[in-house]
Amino acid sequence: MDATGYASTWTQEEDLDSLNRRIHDAAPLEQLAGRARAYRDLLFDTFPEARPTENDTVVEFGSGVGWIMEAMLERFSMGEIIGLDISENMIARAQERFQNPRARFVHYDGLHIPFSDGEIQVVYSCAAIQHIEKHIAFMLLRELHRVLADGGHAVLHLLSVEHIPHGVPPYDQECLNHINNVPTHWHHYYSFDELFILLSKVVGVHELDIVYKEVPFHSLLVHFGKGTGNLYRRPELPELTFSHLSAATPAATAAWKTSAPAAGWRGRLRRLRARAGG
Ligand SMILES: C[S@@+](CC[C@H](N)C(=O)[O-])C[C@H]1O[C@@H](n2cnc3c(N)ncnc32)[C@H](O)[C@@H]1O
Repeated sequence: MDATGYASTWTQEEDLDSLNRRIHDAAPLEQLAGRARAYRDLLFDTFPEARPTENDTVVEFGSGVGWIMEAMLERFSMGEIIGLDISENMIARAQERFQNPRARFVHYDGLHIPFSDGEIQVVYSCAAIQHIEKHIAFMLLRELHRVLADGGHAVLHLLSVEHIPHGVPPYDQECLNHINNVPTHWHHYYSFDELFILLSKVVGVHELDIVYKEVPFHSLLVHFGKGTGNLYRRPELPELTFSHLSAATPAATAAWKTSAPAAGWRGRLRRLRARAGG
């Protein structure tokens, strides 16, 4: 299976009018400024400590044609804002749409973010990570953490698995698009527990928080920082994960351990270890 289809739908040549109609959750042109302000406020009112301050370098990851960057410049003072995208066409169309002395765009290969370690104070992203093939997205989360300054903030919008039954196209079609590498909008869905494990136990972020919002689109909003020593923004965060496991009684756990399926798994594990010579 090839995963290039996810990218070619963004990197193809396309004019501004067509992009404006295609890439903004089907919102009409006259609502695009409002949509951008709504995403900005969703992220930075949920996590006010992440709001950029003067002299900060801010990056929008997956900036499209720049509507949210413009909304950011409208509300916050900052040193500069950089739109980072895999699509040269998207960047050219963004520059055709708006120019600001504090805004610039950077094109990259979709895997290696071209900033130094600790260079960026604020990273945000809306309606972009959901489209990236999941394992690539994980490597990019690592990259976002790498480029973040100590004490900096990343605030990211992702789609929750709650959206799967409401998704367009239906999930079966979504799966076939991936299997057949169809160049169209791919969607990937995340769960609270999955993001908790990946970010806190694998990437090793600080100041982690994950918030579910039913509107828009059953979203998960993620905050993380770096180098503060404080693992979670809300101390209760770990207790909110795997609640079905922590709710299990000791009797239920003991019953599971002696159950037939658990015995079957233990047998299979023993055979695998024996075969591997372990
Ligand atoms: C649906 S558009 C959203 C644009 C903008 N964030 C907004 O909401 O108005 C998705 C954007 O993500 C970009 N993108 C896709 N894969 C990417 C990647 N691996 N890294 C950065 N940007 C990517 C696309 O080129 C496109 O500009």
